[in-house]
Amino acid sequence: MRLLFVIAITKGHSMKIIPGILILLLSFNLMAAPAGERLAFVLGCINCHHQTPKQLINAPSLVIVQPYTLDELRILLKTGKTRDGRDLLASSSLMGIVATEQFIYMSDEEIQAVYDFLKNDWTAEKGLAEEAKIPLLYQANLPQ
Ligand code: HEC
Repeated sequence: MRLLFVIAITKGHSMKIIPGILILLLSFNLMAAPAGERLAFVLGCINCHHQTPKQLINAPSLVIVQPYTLDELRILLKTGKTRDGRDLLASSSLMGIVATEQFIYMSDEEIQAVYDFLKNDWTAEKGLAEEAKIPLLYQANLPQ
């Protein structure tokens, strides 16, 4: 289908063949599986869960994802219900709000990518490294 589109736009215009090929390559790149690490940063999982001072948001370290199954995480992200049956929206937790207001729009591929990253590549040490960055970021912006 994409190939047909590129052939159609380059037809009779030999000079357009190179941009045509670029469009084709780009379209495959955009179709590539979303990177879980990038999504965990962009969606705010890492920022919220490793915010300091801790009592500000009071979210647990993201290693808490590791005992979750993919299905349990999908339910949490789309409804705010934890694997042990707590309803985070009903308890007015920020997690319940972001689940029902934002994460409900995540695709299955995006949930899978975030899950794979947090399950296999996230560690307590990485969480602590993120937490250590926050006071430094604030200090960098204090007026001298
Ligand atoms: C706006 C802040 C915020 C964002 C963004 C956020 N969380 Fe949370 N999350 C929380 C808070 C707060 C809790 C603790 C809820 C509670 O126990 O009352 C929590 C709890 C959780 C839990 C534990 C649930 C349990 O079993 O107790 C998991 C797993 C989780 N979040 C995963 C994620 C993932 C994955 C993302 C990104 C897609 C994410 N969170 C983004 C604030 C956030």
